Amino acid sequence: MSMLMSSLQLPSESLVNSIKPKIDGMIEELITALPASEKLTSAERRGIIARYTAVLEGNFIYWMTAAYLSVESAKARPIILDNLHEEVRDAHPAMLRNFAIAAQAFPTDTDALAVHQDLTSVRLFFGRLLGVQSLVTMAFFEGFIQRFMAFLADIAALQGSSEMEYTDVHGICDVEHTDGLFRALGLELAVNPCEDNQDLYEGVNLLRTLIETIVWNRAGVRAE
Ligand SMILES: [Fe+2]
Repeated sequence: MSMLMSSLQLPSESLVNSIKPKIDGMIEELITALPASEKLTSAERRGIIARYTAVLEGNFIYWMTAAYLSVESAKARPIILDNLHEEVRDAHPAMLRNFAIAAQAFPTDTDALAVHQDLTSVRLFFGRLLGVQSLVTMAFFEGFIQRFMAFLADIAALQGSSEMEYTDVHGICDVEHTDGLFRALGLELAVNPCEDNQDLYEGVNLLRTLIETIVWNRAGVRAE
């Protein structure tokens, strides 16, 4: 390895080291702000599960695929592929659909439309195929999902469901996936650094807004 290569790799590692705590902090903030599950009404609990399902069932693999298409690092790709393999092989969307049906929270048109605008913003962001930003966004997403599972399982149980395969699987495996995505991010930053004028957290901020709509559905509250 040349002197130039090794000196170039250092900033990417230190950048990942500065990004990770920021992402962890944003996830922590969202998790801390979650409502107490036993204080929610049954309709509110159903709505959260339904909106979560409306977003995740059809979009998680799509966005992970977008991250795969976005990266220039040949070493980062197998890490993302591993994740996609598991999603498809184990049929995670089917697990999520079963989870929602068992909690009597299968999304209706109202649930899908409540997230429509914020979902579209995230889709358009991933469509720009920005390697580094897409990986930062998916690392945030994986990390959030893993931390969100206990709450999601709780509200499903309060809805009378005992179908917990989706929350059990994602509470464990995504720890590995999140670490993998940060590794991929370091590799991508080394070959495809972010321009100074690009906002590293653009996708994260859009996705955070979408998650806030899933949980709090503020537009829905205002409309009632
Ligand atoms: Fe999954």
